[in-house]
Amino acid sequence: VTEFVPVQELSKSLKAVPKNYIAPEDKVPVVTREPGKSVPVVDLCDFNLSPEQHERVVREIASASSEWGFFQVINHGIDVTKPQKVSREFFELPKEEKLKYAAKEYGFKSDGYGSKISNAADAVQLWRDYFFLCTSPKRNLDSWPAQPLQYREVMSGLSDDFLMLTRKILGFLSEGVGLPTDYFEKCFGVPNQSILTNYYPGCPEPDKVLGIEPHSDFGGLTLLLQDGVPGLQVLQNNTWVVVEPIPGAITINISDLLELMSNGRYQSVIHRVKVNASRPRMSIASNYSCLFDSTVAPAPELIDEDHPQLYKPVKFGDYVQEVVKKGPTGKAYMFINH
Ligand code: SIN
Ligand code: FE2
Repeated sequence: VTEFVPVQELSKSLKAVPKNYIAPEDKVPVVTREPGKSVPVVDLCDFNLSPEQHERVVREIASASSEWGFFQVINHGIDVTKPQKVSREFFELPKEEKLKYAAKEYGFKSDGYGSKISNAADAVQLWRDYFFLCTSPKRNLDSWPAQPLQYREVMSGLSDDFLMLTRKILGFLSEGVGLPTDYFEKCFGVPNQSILTNYYPGCPEPDKVLGIEPHSDFGGLTLLLQDGVPGLQVLQNNTWVVVEPIPGAITINISDLLELMSNGRYQSVIHRVKVNASRPRMSIASNYSCLFDSTVAPAPELIDEDHPQLYKPVKFGDYVQEVVKKGPTGKAYMFINH
């Protein structure tokens, strides 16, 4: 079992942030709202799409994914209220109850509650506690919180809903680059999915810490529920742009494997999380990728004279190891083909 003090506990008594939580300074300016500067929002019309609307959705998702690497969807047909409710209730339980589920290893390897992702003495700690769930190909509900009572059922249902929505989005993304609808889904093969609930307590010195340091997601596609508290920021033209929390919307971002499979047509973009002075923030992120022993490669259909092959094929497990070794410093570890 990993040794850690939940940030939620720390935040109850502190007036100043402990040294090991202070993040390196960042000179990149932040933009909150500026015309033409927000992450695109795509209306999925509960999937009652006429052929014209279908075309529009494909076009909007493809251009957002190549220009921003991020978009939000509305009218997606998924109930996001219950998962947010049970997750919040879990984090509001007494510390002793939560610590029963303390993760057994560092670094998101098994189901469990944690805060630190590394036990390196010099690692900068994040202002964030989490609960990690392995949801596909195997789900071990017995290791998930027994409280609140509906937690297991609701979060298992969310995982199914997210798998279904992910398949549909992968379909739009395949069509967006002129490939058959099931193209990217087939490239991934058996889904490797996990759900990570992040809880960012209020912080006495919010500007000194980070909820999550700048990183790109190393999986294939990420789906995210934000609550009403802003915090997620995306790097666009060397500015951090706030991803506005829209009630009920799902934020979707292209992750590294899809950038690679699409030979760079879609971008896995760097993002980070800032924290709040008084209010806690919670987010629920689902990661979809291939199994660790699968190898992914750029789609041969997307390589031609105008589009040289940008990445080498890579075994996902090797890629993850590389990311873990180098730390989340952005996409420096992408297997660029040179
Ligand atoms: C992320 O997973 O990188 C973002 C999570 C969040 O918005 O809290
Ligand atoms: Fe992320």
